[in-house]
Parts: sequence; structure tokens; C-alpha cells
Amino acid sequence: MNAVEIEEAVATLAVQPFDSTEFPFLFLAAFGNKETTLKRLRKGDSNASDIPNGVLQRNNIHIAVCQEGEVPATLKALRESPQTTQAKAKFILATDGAVLEAEDLASGEPIACNYSDFPDHFGFFLPLAGISAIKEIKDNPIDVRATGRLNKLYVELLRENPDWAKDDRRPDMNHFMARLVFCFFAEDTDIFTGTGLFTNTVETMSERDGSNTHEVLGIIFRAMNMKREERVTAKLSRWAGEFPYVNGGLFGGETDVPRFTRTARAYLYQAGQLNWKEINPDIFGSMIQAVADDEERGALGMHYTSVPNILKVLNPLFLVDLRGQLDSAGDNKIKLLNLRKRMSRIRVFDPACGSGNFLVIAYKQMRDIEAEINRRRGEAGLKSEIPLTNFRGLELRDFPAEIARLALVIAEFQCDVLYRGQKEALAAVLPLDAQNWITCGNALRVDWLSICPPTGMGVKLVADDLFSTPLDQAEIDFENEGGETYICGNPPYKGSQAQSPEQKGDLRAVFQAHQERWPSLDYIAGWFFKASQFLSVTDGQAAFVSTNSISQGEQVPLLWPLIFGMDHCIRFCHTSFTWSNLASRNAGVTVVVIGFGRRTARPKQIFESSAAGRVAVRQVGNISPYLIAGDNIIVQAASGRAKDKWLMLKGNQPTDGGHLCLSRQERDALLREAPNAARYVMRYVGSQELIRGEQRYCIWVKDEDRESANGIGPLAARFSRVAEMRATSKAPSTRPFATTPHRFRQIQAVGRDTTIAIPSVSSERRWYLPVDLLGKCTIVSNLAFALYDAPLWNLALIASRVHLVWIATVCGKLKTDYRYSNTLGWNTFPIPTLTEQNKADLARCAENILLAREAHFPATIADLYDPKTMPENLRHAHERNDEVLERIYIGRRFRNDTERLEKLFDLYTKMTATKLNAKQGKAK
Ligand SMILES: C[S@@+](CC[C@H](N)C(=O)[O-])C[C@H]1O[C@@H](n2cnc3c(N)ncnc32)[C@H](O)[C@@H]1O
Repeated sequence: MNAVEIEEAVATLAVQPFDSTEFPFLFLAAFGNKETTLKRLRKGDSNASDIPNGVLQRNNIHIAVCQEGEVPATLKALRESPQTTQAKAKFILATDGAVLEAEDLASGEPIACNYSDFPDHFGFFLPLAGISAIKEIKDNPIDVRATGRLNKLYVELLRENPDWAKDDRRPDMNHFMARLVFCFFAEDTDIFTGTGLFTNTVETMSERDGSNTHEVLGIIFRAMNMKREERVTAKLSRWAGEFPYVNGGLFGGETDVPRFTRTARAYLYQAGQLNWKEINPDIFGSMIQAVADDEERGALGMHYTSVPNILKVLNPLFLVDLRGQLDSAGDNKIKLLNLRKRMSRIRVFDPACGSGNFLVIAYKQMRDIEAEINRRRGEAGLKSEIPLTNFRGLELRDFPAEIARLALVIAEFQCDVLYRGQKEALAAVLPLDAQNWITCGNALRVDWLSICPPTGMGVKLVADDLFSTPLDQAEIDFENEGGETYICGNPPYKGSQAQSPEQKGDLRAVFQAHQERWPSLDYIAGWFFKASQFLSVTDGQAAFVSTNSISQGEQVPLLWPLIFGMDHCIRFCHTSFTWSNLASRNAGVTVVVIGFGRRTARPKQIFESSAAGRVAVRQVGNISPYLIAGDNIIVQAASGRAKDKWLMLKGNQPTDGGHLCLSRQERDALLREAPNAARYVMRYVGSQELIRGEQRYCIWVKDEDRESANGIGPLAARFSRVAEMRATSKAPSTRPFATTPHRFRQIQAVGRDTTIAIPSVSSERRWYLPVDLLGKCTIVSNLAFALYDAPLWNLALIASRVHLVWIATVCGKLKTDYRYSNTLGWNTFPIPTLTEQNKADLARCAENILLAREAHFPATIADLYDPKTMPENLRHAHERNDEVLERIYIGRRFRNDTERLEKLFDLYTKMTATKLNAKQGKAK
């Protein structure tokens, strides 16, 4: 269940007659517990409660229903119950049907309310459903509720008006919803006079069956599009005269409204009953986006970006600078005035703005600074000089774009109320401004300079309809002549495999003249590149949130040289942290923030979050594209054998249609039928076999044994199937191999005695890369890499933390898994010169790791390297290995992964410089 569904279920429960026996189960059902779980609790099988009428769900909650007036005593009993502690309950809850009290046992946070009001606290209990809610949602669930109500209405209206669901009418539908949101907000904030003017008028004037609701709404919308002086002649219904002139484009144009059913009318009424005054424009917009997206609707209310995360972008981008200027201005009125002037010319531009959360937060933060300036200058209550129209956005989908405009209008009004007072805010809000801020369009196709013309060039075109921005509009009026432009946002990431043909086309349009390998780029690379192009001709900086892949692996050589080539640099970065949302049991994506702009000699900043969430900042001379302190070195793949290491090869590729590879059962069956085939059957090891210990086999026949193998019936049958598959393969390069069906298509090598094997893809959860030592008669598949008959110290290198950090950075990831590469990761891996003693020490460490594993036979690598349950002896063996290796690098242990990486890059720079010098020496 998502947060919206939970809120609905809780609200429904609260209005039902209180049933003391059923309440605990109904409560748990509202938070997504399945009927089977509840059945077991009901039967008492899994109910460990030691309190009368208590229900205790392990690891979750201890609930007790009590007699009237006994709630505080029952809560105390729950708190003190040994079973509460033993079952690791997160919450305790007591109710008598009149009042309800609960406590979050980890934080000690309590709630106490009338029973009927407990849905107001549903956010408090969200962890019961595996959802960790931010404080704003816990304290004020209006955003989730509004999302739920609007969603129900939207779905019901589309059901009743299927033509409005078609592509050509969807924008009308979305526009209609934006109008409703404005009306709900306006009637709760005195923008409309009287209480509940909008909802009450619809309730009074429309039939209960909904049949004329569309007409009533149409008249109200017409009123809001009509100046008072025009109303007399327009014969507007008298009852609509109460509604003010709003227009601003929002109520301009068509007043067409979809038809309502009785249910839709009821949903409209329910939505109107919420207190929209409290709506939070930085949260609400992101939550509601999914309403208009049929595929995304399941994720309703899950997506929001927390304010602290957005500030990780905006603070270092420009807000810290503004606040610094405010601090140094003190009470100096001239300096304060200069800062206010500077801010009035700042543009903030989000070229993938969704429902405008970055823009809203930037706006609110700047208004906060301006209010402080005005307070210090003795001008509190002064009209804001920060134009809302300087907060620009580009968004592909029309609904979020509509919501973004509204969110900014709401933010402006709320800031006016906060800093200037209700009266001034009301006087300023209507009619709405008709200028454009948000363009609905494709950011990789639209010329950004047409939306934010270069600073210093005055532009004077005011669009007349805020809500239908022409895409090709060349210039838009704005008031920041000579000001700075700050580009920000979290554009879509989309790795090269996940892009649609349209998105591939977008990337081609951006990159084809600059990077011939553009098809391998992430979609977000387009935003980085276009931002750099934009900043080459105007004053400002950019910062985006991105998956960390943009600073790892193959993205680095493809994208960053282009950006550095424009004489730009990374000005700050926030290294990997988790960007979570409201999805149930959500682990979040790992992201980075990268701020960039024209090259400057000023110090750069690297921000790093610790596991506990503390942020540390370092000033450095330069930030490399791998987001570490150091030069802009880019690691390039190197083929062949590296001078200081054993040759690593990719495994052997069968291309056999599955006929040369065998499961354990297939092998047993084959050997029962033809025991003399045994000498041609080998163990076969790829990623899964290495990590999960799965048993697979393959048929391995050397050329000289072909005839004898062919003499074994079941083998010959398999060879002929391989021949057929290869001969008819779609890939022309495979067909010639139909003549050698007894062997794999591509044979790299086979170990004489031992093979050190590493999976090509493995989970990022492990603290070390899974590497193993295989014995004789083992064939490594193309899903792994191998070192054949290599000394054991090589295994120590691969099993080290230093190596994992290098691989994660330079090879990048496949989704969230580490992707190994011999040419990019192993051959380039910088190691100090190893003495014979070093090698002997490392070999012993490798042996100890293998022995530690053996002590847990038959546990697999997956079992042993689970970070939560890794056995102590194995952890110790790895620690020892790291200790020995790191002492070889720097004479002590590294403090953290950052230090590891910085040392590795330092060595890599020297290593490649030496190579270059050697080459140049040869050329002379
Ligand atoms: C990750 S969301 C970020 C939105 C918002 N900042 C938030 O946190 O909810 C990315 C946004 O980019 C929009 N988008 C995707 N492709 C786009 C394109 N080619 N041009 C403009 N916007 C695009 C999506 O519709 C989505 O709203």
C-alpha cells in the first residue's frame, strides 16, 4: 500500500462505529497487513501480547483496547510490558474508542487525540508499513490527503468522460484540475471572500446527482475570467458574482468542464472539506504528479523530494553565497540594498522541473533572505522585489507543468502572508500574473536561451496566456538584466539501456556533433551538456542531482572531456547519498550532486554525508570527474597484460543454444546414459555459480578428441543441435562456428592447475568483491573474468577494499551492481611495486581468507558476504588483508574510501605519465 491508500483506509476506519474487538485488526489492515497475517494474529498463533485485549505484532506494534477512561494506564502497561521489549515493538497504542494515545518507542514521541481525529496522525504510524515519512508529512498530512482526494476525482471524471482521457483532451483535463486546486486553496485562504465559497456554492447550486455540476463550475470559471465591470453586460448569474476576477491565464480561454456523476460530485465535496491553507507547495506538487499519469498512478504520493536534499543542490549553488553576503552586510543599509537588488535579478532555471519543487524552495529561501534584509532596513512588510517570473522551468508533461505554476503562485501568496501580512498578501494576489515561467516542452530539444536569454540582454515580450506557453517563443519578459542564472534540478537519469527511441533521438540531437559514442551516454548527460553550453554564453552556474553513474565508469570519458573542453570545471559536489521517497520499504537511489560552471581559481568544495547523516565539507583545489580531489584525470581502458600484474581474461563464451552447458540433473542423466562421456564433462563457473554456489557443467572437448567424443551418441546429438543453432543464427559472425560444434565459440583459456575467478557483475551490498580460487577441470564462463595459474597474491589484491573502491569508480555499475572489467578495472588498477616479501605476505592473507571461508562450508559467497551476517573470522581475515596491502600503499590503513581513491588516482596519474614519457622516449 502507498501512503495515499493508507490515509484513505485510516480515514474510513475512523468514521466506522468503534468495534473494540476488531479495532486492532482493522487498524493493522489499514496499514497494509494481509488477511493471512491478521488471521494468525486473531487465532493468537503470532500474538505475543501479555496485556488484556492486547494484540502484539512482532517488530511492529503493541495495541490494546481498554475501558473508557483507562487509556493512560493502558499505555503505561504497554510501555512496561516485557513482551513489548522482547517482540521489539516500534509503537504502542491504547484506545477506548473515545480517545487514542500512542508512542513511537524509538524516539519517545507521543500522540494523544480524540479517536475520531486519529487519521490526522496517520503519518506518525507510516513506519508500520515500511514507509519513513518526513516530518512535514508526519505533522501535516494534508498533502497526502489532497493527493488521494484529487486522484479519486480524476479517475471518476475520466471514467465518466472517456473523451477527456484521449491525448488531445488530456491537457484540458489537467488544466481543469489545476483550476480546482486553485479554487480549493483560494477558498481556504480568504483569496475568495467568505468561508468555503467555492465548495459551498457547488454544493448549493448543483443537483445531488451531479447532472449540472459541470454547468455550475463553468459559470464559476467564467466569473473568474471576467473583470467586475464586464459582468453587468455579460449577464453572469448573480450567485457567481461573489467570485473575484482571477484569470492570469488560469481561468482564461475555454470554460469547458467534464460531466460529473453523483460520486464525482461527492469527491469534489470531500476534497473541498480539506484545509488547503496548509498545503505545502514543495511537497504537494511532487506527490500529485502521478494523478494524471495512468502508468504512474500506482506510485501515487510516493514521490517527493525532501527539502534537505533539494538544499544540497541550492545551498552550495547560490544560497550560501547570498546568506554570506547578508551576514557580511550586517546592518549596513547600502550593502543590504545592493543584496536585495542582486536578488531581484537572479534567475533560477530548472530544465526538468516536474511540479516545480526546486523552484518553489529556491523562491521561499530567497524570500526569507529578502525579509531579513527588509527587517534590518526597517522596511518589514515591503512588497517583494523578487519576481516570481524569474523562477523558470521546462517540463515535458503538461500536468506537472500546470502544477508547478500553481505551486509557485501558492508559495508567493504564503510568503506574502508570512512576511507582509494577510491583508497585503490578499491585496496583491489577484488578478494572477499572466507572464510565463514554466514551459511545457522537451528540454533536450528546446533552446534554453529562448527561455532564459543571456543575461545583460533586455527582452520585452509578455505572453498573454500563462497557461499555454508557445514552445518556440523566442524571448520572455524578465527583469534580471545583468543578473545571474542558476540552473538546477534532478533531470531523468535513464541509463543507455533504459531509454526509449524518442529519448535516444533527443540524445542524438544534443551530442551527435560532439561525441560519436553518444549512444552509451545516460539520458541525464544531455542536461549536463546543455547546461554547460548555456553557461558558456551567460553568467551563472549549474547543479544537478544525478545517479552516481555520471561520475563513474564509461560515462566519465564520454561526457566530462566535453564539459572541461568548454573551459568549465566542477565547482562543488556532494558524494553519493541516498535519495529516498515515500515508497514502502524504499531503499532509495544512490545519487550525487554536481555543481559546475566556468573554470575558476577559487577553492572547490566536496561535501560528504556520513552513515549517520552528518555532512562534512572539504575545500580542494580541483574536483576530478570521479568526484575526488585531484586533477581531471580520466581512466582509459588498457588491453593486454599490465606490467605489474597477471594477465586477466574474460571467460569462455559458448554460444551453444544451451546444448554444451548442463545442469546437475542433465549431467547425471548424460553420465547414466553414457558413462564414458565423463572425461568430457567439466565444472562450469560463471557469476551465479561463483556467488551462489550453483552447480553447472559443460561439455569440453579438445579438437584432437573430437572424433572420439562424436562416437558417444548423446554427445554427438548435442553437437548436431549446436551446429544447427549456429548455422541458423541471426548473427552472421556466429555461423562459421557451426563447423566446430564440439567446442565453445570463443575460447580464451583454461587453467592448468588453478583459476582465480571474478564475476562480471556482483551486488553493491558487499563490502568486498566476490573472488574465488577454482581447481583443475573448471571452465570459466563469459560471465566472469579469470587469472589462470596465477600466484595467490593476485587474489589478495582483488579481495581488497582498495580494489573494490577502484572498480566501483572506474568501471561503474550495471543498475546498482558492480560491473567488473579487466581492461578498465584490472589493467589500470594502480599498485605500488611489490617486493617478493610483499607478495608472500599477500599470498598468506589470501590463503587465510580462503581458510576462513572453508570453516563455514558449505556456505556460499552470497551467504558469507552478506554485510549483516558476515562471519567474524572472515571479516578478520579481510581486515588483515587490507591492513597488509594498505601498509604497502601508504605505511598505514587508509582512513576511508575517499582517501583510498585519492591515493589510487595519484598513483594512476604517475603511472600513466611514466608510460607517456616512455612512449615519447621511444619516439625520439
Ligand atoms: C526526476 S523528475 C524531477 C521532477 C521534480 N524536480 C521532482 O523532484 O519531483 C524529472 C522530471 O523531468 C521530466 N522530463 C523527462 N524528460 C524530459 C525532457 N526531455 N524534457 C523536460 N522534462 C523532462 C519528467 O516529466 C519529470 O517531471
